[in-house]
Amino acid sequence: MHVRRKLVAGNWKMNGSIAALQELSAIAAAARAASGVDVAICPPFTLIAPAAARSGGMAIGAQDCHWAASGAHTGNVSAAMLKEAGARLAIVGHSERRADEGEGDDLIRRKAEAVLATGLQAIVCVGETDEQRRSGRAIEVVTAQLAGSLPDPRGEAELVVAYEPVWAIGTGNVATPADIAEMHAAIRAHLLGRFGDAGGRIRILYGGSVKADNARELFAVADVDGALVGGASLTAAQFVPIVEAATGA
Ligand code: 13P
Repeated sequence: MHVRRKLVAGNWKMNGSIAALQELSAIAAAARAASGVDVAICPPFTLIAPAAARSGGMAIGAQDCHWAASGAHTGNVSAAMLKEAGARLAIVGHSERRADEGEGDDLIRRKAEAVLATGLQAIVCVGETDEQRRSGRAIEVVTAQLAGSLPDPRGEAELVVAYEPVWAIGTGNVATPADIAEMHAAIRAHLLGRFGDAGGRIRILYGGSVKADNARELFAVADVDGALVGGASLTAAQFVPIVEAATGA
């Protein structure tokens, strides 16, 4: 059985400012004190470099990246650029990008491959909609997303999966521990089937309305190796207790 360090990653989405980096400094101080837990914050692109400069070793990540190394892709940012700015990881395939920007599994896989090839950690997001869960297709949908959007990990580059049910994001409707346990077990089975023993080392995060008051319960669920946190990652007051819950888990 593999021992996986918990990872608590904050996704600031399109929020934050230079002034908000005060929060990041406070989060970084708590991250240094949190033994045995990896902590990361993913601010908007424009804040990656200033965030990395004051993160005190805590990982800073991006929320997306282009699949190409460089070229005529107006408005996009490559993995190498993110790395140079100080990012150590990148989220790809977030449901907001799948829904708002029409991103599909094949594009997400190419993005993840670019992230890993650059030596960054890739957090690949999957998750079903409310309608898909109600119609009993949640596991089928997520398994298809995994099959289509996960790259083959290589070298020391690291792959992380984030299960984020769309209906739980920003709604306060956190999935039940039983539903999370069932889905994470299905994801683990897919990873083991596809990557063999290495699939046991890939961390599976839960995301969707993770808060200080539900984090401990979520981290106790089998195969929950951490969290991807949106709204509650914007302030140290809300995020640090989630990190602390992972320390004790
Ligand atoms: P919330 O924590 O705000 O529900 O967002 C989750 C999320 O989308 C993280 O990527």
